[in-house]
Amino acid sequence: MRIMLAPMEGVTDFHLRKILTGLGGYHRCVTEFLRVTDHLYPDRVFHKICPELKAGGVTDSGTPVYLQLLGSDTIALALNAARAVELGASGIDLNFGCPAKTVNRHGGGSALLRSPTTVANIVQSVREAVEPSVPVTAKIRLGFDDGSRVLETASLIEQAGATELCIHARTRADGYRPPAYWEQVYEVSRALSIPVIINGEIWSVQDSRLARKDSGCVDLMLGRGALSVPDLALHLKAVHDRGTGADDSVSTYQPLAWNAVVDMLRQLLESASDFPPKYAGNRTKQWLSYLKRGYPEATDVFDRIKRLRTVDDIAAALF
Ligand SMILES: Cc1cc2nc3c(=O)[nH]c(=O)nc-3n(C[C@H](O)[C@H](O)[C@H](O)COP(=O)(O)O)c2cc1C
Repeated sequence: MRIMLAPMEGVTDFHLRKILTGLGGYHRCVTEFLRVTDHLYPDRVFHKICPELKAGGVTDSGTPVYLQLLGSDTIALALNAARAVELGASGIDLNFGCPAKTVNRHGGGSALLRSPTTVANIVQSVREAVEPSVPVTAKIRLGFDDGSRVLETASLIEQAGATELCIHARTRADGYRPPAYWEQVYEVSRALSIPVIINGEIWSVQDSRLARKDSGCVDLMLGRGALSVPDLALHLKAVHDRGTGADDSVSTYQPLAWNAVVDMLRQLLESASDFPPKYAGNRTKQWLSYLKRGYPEATDVFDRIKRLRTVDDIAAALF
């Protein structure tokens, strides 16, 4: 079982990727998306979204980072993918799942799922632009309005040369509303020869077990679950390595104490100096709001800092 850390725009930046992968358990992670229109970006743009490029495309703990591109212009995507790889990206991930209205209006993200052949053309164009040894992965939802074309889309993505496919088991119309329809991925995971990675609503050991069983997938991707329980990947691995049939209630896994989480919050806040002062605390606040689900202590802390602006004020209230 491999566990991937999901791309989350506005949250899983370089600093949080470093913190979360540093805890262990992740096979790879993905950058926030870089939106490609019709031109090749200058190098500094790639370095901004993926500072790991300067360290061989891996986080400090050695976890590979794939650079995610979003767009619909096959030529521009290919050019940018090739440049990202020249600069050191470990792989390219293509975003066909973003539900944002502005992105969709310009024909990007999940809007592309309305045309599986366009999706396949993009994958093929990027595949051909980089060396065969460089992974090119795709991330999709079940569909735009419904999931009726997911198998067709996935099969075309495979034929176009993708190395792996991650499926967020919801449509664009479902947004982020639970549940995730893991069972709708089953037919796809059976039909494809490339690995299919299940994603969506995996918050616990129990969820991961069900998600893998219902979807038929071996590997999984954690998004918000990894934010609410930072060491979730390690926990899943510990349980998985003990083998099926083992009793969860006697798990020897020691969850991360709240104090250790506070240390990581401090680390994230201290790294905020590369943001304009007005926004410096935003990512810390965002992470804390997800931590509320995993740690009761986070609610009180979040309420204390939510209206504070400067890093100093937030730090004083936090610690
Ligand atoms: C705040 C936020 C930002 C996201 N940004 C991206 C993104 O940049 N690229 C992408 O492919 N998916 C993005 N997603 C979707 C996640 O990668 C993931 O597919 C989704 O959250 C479902 O997984 P989860 O239930 O484990 O969170 C984002 C999700 C959230 C909540």
